[in-house]
Amino acid sequence: MATFADSDSQRYANKAILAPMVRVGTLPMRMLALKYGADLVYTPEIIDKRIINATRRVNPETGIIEYITNGVTDLQIHPKEKPFLVFQMGTSDPEIALQAALAVQQDVSGIDVNCGCPKKFSIQGGMGAALLTNPARLKAILETLVAHCSVPVTCKIRLLDTDPDTLDLVRMIESTGVKALAVHCRTRDERPAQPAHWDRLKPIVDAVTTIPVIVNGDVFRYEDIARAKEITGASSVMIARGAQSNPSVFCSQGPANSHLVAQQYVAIALAIHNRFQNTKYTLMQMYPYTKSKEYQLLTRAKTNEALKVIFDLDEPFSVTVDQLRFCTVKDICRDAADHAMVKPDHAPQPKPARPRSPAEPSNVGPPTKQAKVAI
Ligand SMILES: Cc1cc2nc3c(=O)[nH]c(=O)nc-3n(C[C@H](O)[C@H](O)[C@H](O)COP(=O)(O)O)c2cc1C
Repeated sequence: MATFADSDSQRYANKAILAPMVRVGTLPMRMLALKYGADLVYTPEIIDKRIINATRRVNPETGIIEYITNGVTDLQIHPKEKPFLVFQMGTSDPEIALQAALAVQQDVSGIDVNCGCPKKFSIQGGMGAALLTNPARLKAILETLVAHCSVPVTCKIRLLDTDPDTLDLVRMIESTGVKALAVHCRTRDERPAQPAHWDRLKPIVDAVTTIPVIVNGDVFRYEDIARAKEITGASSVMIARGAQSNPSVFCSQGPANSHLVAQQYVAIALAIHNRFQNTKYTLMQMYPYTKSKEYQLLTRAKTNEALKVIFDLDEPFSVTVDQLRFCTVKDICRDAADHAMVKPDHAPQPKPARPRSPAEPSNVGPPTKQAKVAI
């Protein structure tokens, strides 16, 4: 097991990490990932200027820390999430990046710079994967953040086309004083359907010796975590789509029933006043089979009330401000899980299993007694 002399770097070593995911990685997903065993969770990428201009408040009703711009909540943070939470920003400018980091660092334990996003919006703005080919700018951003932030700074990159170019880049990144490096093992132009190049990570791990390297790409099951570490030599593992489908991917006892997890997701989303459109979007990512009953019902759902009906939540699960302040994230999620399971009226009669298509994984289906025990 790799250890690192620097205590901030050590906090990123030997970890299973929820990857940054725009739209999907909002608070309910992060809470569930933590409940099921993730060691660290990243916010979705937020653009530096957006967070600078946001107003911070503690929601008096829910106790959640909120960053709001023009009435839109850009970021929700659970008051007990801070030890596990990394804020990821999109940026192209050292000074603006620093302002963004200073605006949010009181609520998080790390600041990450996204150097992997291949989208047109990011590239045109000199952000994301554009930074991979602008090392001078990236160096200035990282050095500025490292010099002035009170929390560790990290960055997440993609591979360059050749190993020598990638090695030059990662050595430069290591020299800036960042505390960890996450590598999405695809190049800028490769799509998610193309296999991640775990084989290309080993030389990077060998070259970057002072900070943990985090392997990312195609880790879909708990067993893949050990396999990815063994093959690449990376210290830690970061999971995106595997957690999007079922955030219990972090659970060492195997995945929980995915319908149960979706129920828990809804219970938590309602309790913390997650935006309906966001809740619905993320749930639809959890039901990839467009012909499934849940997917069909979700496409038509227009309100939180409809979600409660689809997911069989009679009473909304509620979290008091005191609970949020004094309970752990895991406690809240366990309560939400119990709430999702315990139905005084009809708990003893489990629903009949719905027919499964042959392609559908066997853990998809209504909650079962076994699934509850597995949590
Ligand atoms: C819905 C979604 C949103 C994403 N948003 C971000 C993001 O905000 N920042 C980022 O660095 N990467 C983002 N990514 C990329 C993932 O973090 C990750 O690098 C990529 O999906 C490969 O990991 P995987 O094979 O485990 O999915 C996103 C991926 C998905 C599927």
